[in-house]
Amino acid sequence: MLRICNSLLFAVLLATPMAAQSLDSLLARMTLEEKLGQLNLLSANGRASPQQIQLARDGKLGGLFNVIGAENSGAVQRVAVTESRLKIPLLFGLDVIHGYRAIFPIPLGEAASFDPDAAEATARAAGQEAAAFGINWTYAPMVDIARDPRWGRIAEGSGEDPYLGSLMAAARVRGFQQNIFATVKHFAGYGAAEAGREYNETEISQRTMREVYLPPFKAAVDAGVASLMSAFNDISGVPASGNAWLTDTVLRREWGFSGFVVSDWTSVAELINHGVAGSQAEAGRRALTAGVDMDMQSSIYVDSLAALVRSNRIPMAVVDSAVMRILRAKLRLGLFRDPYRARTAPPNTELRALARRVAGESIVLLKNEPVGRGAACCAPTLPLSKSATIAVIGPLADNKEEPLGPWHTQGRAEDVVTVLQGIKAKVPAGTQVVYAQGAGIEDTATAGFAAAVAAARQAKVAVLVLGERGDMSGEAASRASLGLPGVQQQLLEAVAATGTPVVLVLMNGRPLILEWASDHVPAIVETWFLGIEAGNATADVLFGDVNPSARLPVTFPRVLGQVPIYYNRRNTGRPPDPNNKYTSKYIDVPVTPRYPFGFGLSYTTFSYGNLRLSAARARARDTVTATVTVTNTGSREGTEVVQLYVRDEVASVSRPLRELKAFRRVTLKPGESKAIDLPIAVKDLWFIGLDMKPVVEPGMFRVYVGPNSAEGQEATFECIP
Ligand code: NOJ
Repeated sequence: MLRICNSLLFAVLLATPMAAQSLDSLLARMTLEEKLGQLNLLSANGRASPQQIQLARDGKLGGLFNVIGAENSGAVQRVAVTESRLKIPLLFGLDVIHGYRAIFPIPLGEAASFDPDAAEATARAAGQEAAAFGINWTYAPMVDIARDPRWGRIAEGSGEDPYLGSLMAAARVRGFQQNIFATVKHFAGYGAAEAGREYNETEISQRTMREVYLPPFKAAVDAGVASLMSAFNDISGVPASGNAWLTDTVLRREWGFSGFVVSDWTSVAELINHGVAGSQAEAGRRALTAGVDMDMQSSIYVDSLAALVRSNRIPMAVVDSAVMRILRAKLRLGLFRDPYRARTAPPNTELRALARRVAGESIVLLKNEPVGRGAACCAPTLPLSKSATIAVIGPLADNKEEPLGPWHTQGRAEDVVTVLQGIKAKVPAGTQVVYAQGAGIEDTATAGFAAAVAAARQAKVAVLVLGERGDMSGEAASRASLGLPGVQQQLLEAVAATGTPVVLVLMNGRPLILEWASDHVPAIVETWFLGIEAGNATADVLFGDVNPSARLPVTFPRVLGQVPIYYNRRNTGRPPDPNNKYTSKYIDVPVTPRYPFGFGLSYTTFSYGNLRLSAARARARDTVTATVTVTNTGSREGTEVVQLYVRDEVASVSRPLRELKAFRRVTLKPGESKAIDLPIAVKDLWFIGLDMKPVVEPGMFRVYVGPNSAEGQEATFECIP
């Protein structure tokens, strides 16, 4: 309801003739320098520098980012709205990625919840908190599809799937925009960086661009996102920050986007490095005429474009359109009425409760097998007993910095509950919890192993908390090897060798290679970077107070050589066949991943039965509903993520083996069965045809409904003309 009210309010503001007229007359009063000033965005260092304040006074600044605190933003806003000639307010941006000070799970982790409502709730809370500190514009959500775990920024998005990514994108936009403007980024194809190397070139066909990389952006645009950020990368030789096909043809003409595009940090100037511009002015001309309205941090528009406009090498109409987009955004945000936007942050208790709940929903149980012989043999390792002695080991076990993840804005280590603290808070006073760090995250020394081994020997179970530093993923953090860093693998093996059952708790911003652990460790729990409530949420899952329900939003490979590996691949002409050498596979490793997309366990079990479709034939305008009976066959209440995939069996273009088209989180009591409906709108089964236009072709579609992308019941229906 609030969402509708907000967009209505925005629509009314835009539609008010007075408002539109006043923007027109404002534009008519602007000098060329003031116009270019609106397109200029600079980073502050906590507060505006004297030079930036002067730019605001001179009308040569459209916004600032990285101004921290309402006092600091208010001070420079006051200069803009009282001392500049035209009194145009500034935008204040910040990378509020997964929280302002209250840090929630990294977006990849949150995507594992398969719960867009949770993503909307954290984005709303983060936006509200940021607004209370003077921010009116965030550079999130990042919606880049990523199929290569070497690429560190995989942590900031929703993983490999366009459907899940689109739902998450729209949810986050709705959440943020209840309080501040959102920026969907990085437009486009940044996640396809060759070899997973940050900022690298990309080679993306137009078909793959439209089918895989663009849908989350389109979903964000449809959800009303205020701005897009143009990416650093090139696409088959054309840099995204000077790419008229992307920022004009697709975004504005096809999608009807009426907001504005901001460049990434100096990505306008970088057109020179890309080799598509020979000078700053040429780089600026290329970016602006391609549709990049605001220049982040290059200062090229404001410093170098006036002469080109005066000599008609850039039409004034291009400048005016860009300026109007910025002014309209400021109007839509209410800045002309209320430039300071005083807001109140949500109460801390509320933020913490939300952080804990969503963190719990983001934890993926990857493995949970029984240990021991005889009578004890049949109980899975997890959940843990609250009364048995526990060894808590590892560089991340009592670490307050890393759970904040790669991009934590104003997050503070002191706010983080560690896994050790979470475990201690959970067990009764009489339960012994023995802690040993064992090694640092990237240590080469094994001196701490002896204490870790001794701790494990005294305990009934050893919880090893291993993984990456927060900044080993995120921007400029590509890795060429995906094992546990430092000597952590050896630490794991040394502790496992004691014979004490091991629970491996992972913290990381990307899929890791977990071959040894998957073969030798009875229980593995993927916690990503969960934010301030990491320890409590992990302990909730370890002891069974929360039954894990998250599913992988990205494929976990067996070995690095399988990368890129993703579930929605095409069949090839020679699909893998173990009995035929001349088929598409490796001679040294299986072709399957270690953990497929959509995979995750629970402390209970579910069975699927009786899949049926509402129609055997349907037209493109119809909806076919798949119904499946899901039963909780275990002894605890649990939540299953029921997933529906579709394959277009014969088409004019080879189609993926499976594509996720629907899912539902369903909570069932022990023994309970429910018939679950999953509607498929046939029009959503489009692909890019031979003529490069979207098409739904008649023919057979195979539907799979199950617990992940590698299993499921099957049924078919025919799409008829
Ligand atoms: C560069 C990053 O690529 C982008 O995501 C971020 O929003 C900007 N820097 C601003 O900090």
